[in-house]
Amino acid sequence: MSGDGHAKLSELEEATPVQVEVDGTPVCLVRFGDTVKAIHDVCSHQQWSLADGMVWDNGVECSLHGSTFDLDTGAPSSLPAMKPVPTFNVQLDGDAVHVDVETATNDAPFPDH
Ligand code: FES
Repeated sequence: MSGDGHAKLSELEEATPVQVEVDGTPVCLVRFGDTVKAIHDVCSHQQWSLADGMVWDNGVECSLHGSTFDLDTGAPSSLPAMKPVPTFNVQLDGDAVHVDVETATNDAPFPDH
């Protein structure tokens, strides 16, 4: 699915993180019914794919050390991560999932590692 930046809603499983690449930015998508949430896929603690982790309530848990990031605010709710991760707007166009990676919806810095 990665590469074209156009994930399909029908290919996303409920509450299951999926990594896609949108305009060169790795993004972790999570579907909740007819809603899709998007967060930058790189954990703010170390370079690790959040899509490798599990979804708990409205957060995705990093599988390396267990920090969980809220999918709306990008904020970690548990250590060791202390910095938020950028979150993005998602628009659905039929089955197409469009992610705006130009501007984060929070004030989190883009990962530099
Ligand atoms: S790399 Fe994600 S919590 Fe450490």
